[in-house]
Amino acid sequence: MKQFSWTDDLRTGNPLIDGDHRKLVTLINALFKAMESAQANDALHKAMNDLIAGTKEHFGREEAEMERIRYVASLAHESEHAKLTRQIVELKAMLDSGGRINTPAVADFLSEWLRAHIVTADMKLAAALKQEARAA
Ligand SMILES: [Fe+2]
Repeated sequence: MKQFSWTDDLRTGNPLIDGDHRKLVTLINALFKAMESAQANDALHKAMNDLIAGTKEHFGREEAEMERIRYVASLAHESEHAKLTRQIVELKAMLDSGGRINTPAVADFLSEWLRAHIVTADMKLAAALKQEARAA
């Protein structure tokens, strides 16, 4: 299965956000690998749990930054986070209940979602954080 490859257009220039995103890419790729391997189960559940935990942690950090600078677009940004969190929690529930998942579709969905979110919402947030740092 194809892996999510980090490309330079994903760099926001904010070290905290970029560091987190790279970790998320690693977690997503670990999930892809686990989905691919025939003995789905323990490895898959672990990879899914790691991705959910890493995603929540990262979103929490971005949201704390948004609050700190009283970011004007925080509601829209947070609702994107909430939506993705719901989707991956649903996906995990499906796995937990023994449901079959369409592995390539899930992989595409996660990669596309992260890429799209970074190049739109996160780029704007990073720019706002930079501006705030300059003004301080
Ligand atoms: Fe974000």
